[in-house]
Amino acid sequence: MIGLGQLLAVALLLTFLPAGLRGATTRTHLDTNAIRPRFSADPGRIINGTEASLGATRHQVGIRKALNDGYFFGTGHLCGGSLIRPGWVLTAAHCFVDQIIYDGTFVPKEEFIVVMGNLDRYNRTNTLTFTIEERIMQLDKFVLATYDKDIALLKLNGIVPTGHPTIRPIALSRFAIPEGVVCQVTGWGNTEDGFISDILMTVDVPMISEEHCINDSDLGHLIQPGMICAGYLEVGEKDACAGDSGGPLVCQSELAGVVSWGIQCALPRLPGVYTEVSYYYDWILKNMGEDGEGSGDDGSGDDGSGDDGSGDDGSGDDGSGDDGSGDDGSGDDDDGSGDGGGAMAAVAGTLTLLLPVILALRLIATQF
Ligand SMILES: *[C@@H]1O[C@H](CO)[C@@H](O)[C@H](O)[C@H]1NC(C)=O
Ligand SMILES: *[C@@H]1O[C@H](CO)[C@@H](O)[C@H](O)[C@H]1NC(C)=O
Ligand SMILES: *[C@@H]1O[C@H](CO)[C@@H](O)[C@H](O)[C@H]1NC(C)=O
Repeated sequence: MIGLGQLLAVALLLTFLPAGLRGATTRTHLDTNAIRPRFSADPGRIINGTEASLGATRHQVGIRKALNDGYFFGTGHLCGGSLIRPGWVLTAAHCFVDQIIYDGTFVPKEEFIVVMGNLDRYNRTNTLTFTIEERIMQLDKFVLATYDKDIALLKLNGIVPTGHPTIRPIALSRFAIPEGVVCQVTGWGNTEDGFISDILMTVDVPMISEEHCINDSDLGHLIQPGMICAGYLEVGEKDACAGDSGGPLVCQSELAGVVSWGIQCALPRLPGVYTEVSYYYDWILKNMGEDGEGSGDDGSGDDGSGDDGSGDDGSGDDGSGDDGSGDDGSGDDDDGSGDGGGAMAAVAGTLTLLLPVILALRLIATQF
C-alpha cells in the first residue's frame, strides 16, 4: 500500500513536471508522435498575439472542467469553443479525451461546463454558464494517432438570450477559404502557466491551401481531408498553441476552423492545423436539426449571427452561480495529463481525493 505522502509526491510531480515530458511515453507511432493537442497539456498560449477585442470575439466560449472551476471560477479552463447558435457550441473532440488513460476514451460530458461572456476568464461579469445536454461526435473513441474527425457539437442546457450584451453566435463558413486570406485565431492558453495573461488573446494567421500544406510544410501526409492549415510557412512566429484547442479560427467574419493540433507552436514549416468547418458543414446542420430548412440562404454572414434567438426572454438559465455541479471528476483532472501506464492509472482514482490539496497549493503558489 502506498502512503499518502508518496501519492502526494506523485501528484505534485505530475502537476509540475515540464509539459514536454508528460504524456510522451504512450505515443509510439513514429510518424505522429510529435502531434500535440492544443489543450492544457503544453505550456504557452496564442504565440505573438495581442489581447482580443470583445466586438470580434462574442462567440468565444471556454470549455472548463466543472470540478476545478467549482473550486475557483476560471481555473477549470481546458479548451476553447464557438457559439454557433444560441444553444449550440462547436469545439474539438480531443478536448474530451481522458488525459490520464489517454487511449482515446472520452470523459463523460457531465464533467464539463461551458462559460462565455467575458474576455477575462476569471471575471464573472456578463458571463453565462451552461452544462452540456448533448455531445455529438463522429467517434466513439478518439484517434490519437491521426487527430482525424476532431470535431464536437455541444447542445447546451439552455440558450443565450437574444440581445445579450457580450455574447453572440457566429455564422459557419460554408465554403473552403482561399489561400492567403488572413484569419484570426483566439484563445486563453492554459491554466498552468496562465497566471500572467488571463485575457483572451488573438493572432492573425493566413490560410494555407491543403496542397501547399501537404507539399511544402513538414506535416505532409499528416494532413487529412477535413483538416486545414494556417500560419506562416517560412517564418512561423505566430500561431495558436496549447490551451487554444477547440477555439475558433475566424475568416471573413465566419467560423472557418476549430483549433486542433500542431507540432510545437509557431515554428517554421509547422503551421497550425484546424478542423475545417466547411467540410463538416452539412453534418453540423443535420445534427442541429436544421438540414433542409435554413440552407437556402447562404453566402454572406447568414445563419446564426444572432438573429435567430427565437425571441426568448432571458430564460437561458444564467447558471453563473452554479458551482460546477460537484461531480466527482473520476480522477481525470487536467493537471494529471501524464499517463505513465498502469501504475498511474491505478493511482488515478486516488488523485481525485488529492485534488483539493493540489489546487490549494497551486492557488497559494500564484500569490507569489
Ligand atoms: C470584469 O469585467 C467587466 C466587464 O468587462 C469590467 O467592467 C470589470 O472591470 C471587470 N472586473 C475586473 C475585476 O477585472
Ligand atoms: C504538390 O505536389 C504535387 C505532386 O508532387 C504536384 O503535382 C503539385 O503541383 C504540387 N502543388 C503545389 C501547389 O506545389
Ligand atoms: C515573436 O515574433 C518575433 C518577431 O516578430 C520573433 O522574433 C519571435 O521569435 C516570435 N516568438 C515566437 C515564440 O515565435
